[in-house]
Amino acid sequence: MSALSPPELERLRARFPILDRRTYLNSCSLGALSLDAEAYLDDFRARWHTMGASAWYEHWMGRLDQLRERVATLHGAGATEIALLPSTSAALTVVAESVPTRGRNRVVCTTLDFPTLPYQWLVKPEIEVVFLDSHDGVGIDPQQFADVVDDRTLFVATSHVFFSTGFVQDIRTIGDIARRAGAWSLIDGYQAPGQIPVDVRAAGVDFYTSGPLKWLCGGPGLSYLFVRDDLIQALRPPFTSWFAAKDQFAFEVDRFEFRDDARRFEMGTPALPTVHTALGGQEALASVGWERVFERVRLLTNRLIEGCLARGLSLRVHDDPARRSGIVMVSHPDPAGMVRHLDEMDIVVDHRPGHVRVSPHVYNTEDEVDRVVDALSRGYT
Ligand SMILES: Cc1ncc(COP(=O)(O)O)c(C=O)c1O
Repeated sequence: MSALSPPELERLRARFPILDRRTYLNSCSLGALSLDAEAYLDDFRARWHTMGASAWYEHWMGRLDQLRERVATLHGAGATEIALLPSTSAALTVVAESVPTRGRNRVVCTTLDFPTLPYQWLVKPEIEVVFLDSHDGVGIDPQQFADVVDDRTLFVATSHVFFSTGFVQDIRTIGDIARRAGAWSLIDGYQAPGQIPVDVRAAGVDFYTSGPLKWLCGGPGLSYLFVRDDLIQALRPPFTSWFAAKDQFAFEVDRFEFRDDARRFEMGTPALPTVHTALGGQEALASVGWERVFERVRLLTNRLIEGCLARGLSLRVHDDPARRSGIVMVSHPDPAGMVRHLDEMDIVVDHRPGHVRVSPHVYNTEDEVDRVVDALSRGYT
């Protein structure tokens, strides 16, 4: 695998117009819009204008299949294991509601997970949510899961990459710990595919959620739910839609049979504009080769971290580079003010409590990384 050459990087950058105008280092909030995504959207609009509803049968149902297939490939899954839902929260709800409790009443999460994950069980008085606390404020040791997961545990529900520290969890080990105790593993992977390799089958997890919004540059309005093949038919969601019906277009009103694949978890017509931008965004990134994408995110992240440390900035990142990802938290007394100041300099980053959050993607340059390091170290008055 070779690194992107300067002309290759230039060609890639030309596909993301925001990079012409701004130093865009906020892909963990919203991946940049590509010309490829726009072209898919133009196609969607044109067919809507010219074909109307007939575009559904001739084109748009095919687009849904195409997206499920591409998402499956990227996640190391089969297309029949992928369901399309409107948001990560919706996908998590689907999982939380579809699984029989078998007398178990505990869910193990961590204090670093995105809140919408534990919320799924905090609303259920009959469930006790056990939170693992981070010892270093950055990550969780897998042994912490092993210490608490037992035959009362219904789910081990946690993130692949923590949104507020960039720490990459060992989901294979976490999946093993859950399985040994007879619990389900549910991984919120919103911050992973597109910036680090993901192989859900090799990891052996039961459920995995992700979506196009962030590192896949596909925009808001959709999420992807992976359900392990041999689990699908054993689960019967207590809610449903015609997309989940075995013969969707038979329009039988008086009988219902679930589909045999993961589409049994789908909840009606997905956001078609996003289906199109998701295809385009993923295609733009895949065009340079995923391994090179991951390698470049690593390279830029390390440069960012080293640059910050050399300027005496304090960071919330893990010591072990293998556990880091393209989310770098820079400690700051007034993160919102700093983000506004950087915005005036056309540098787009984000903030979370106590920190400025910087997230470089494959399309960023070393100069852009150096620019944000420089601006952060100068501060503002
Ligand atoms: C890790 C993670 N999970 C879930 C969410 C929320 O997803 P949704 O708004 O699609 O429910 C986010 C943030 O946007 C996130 O970073």
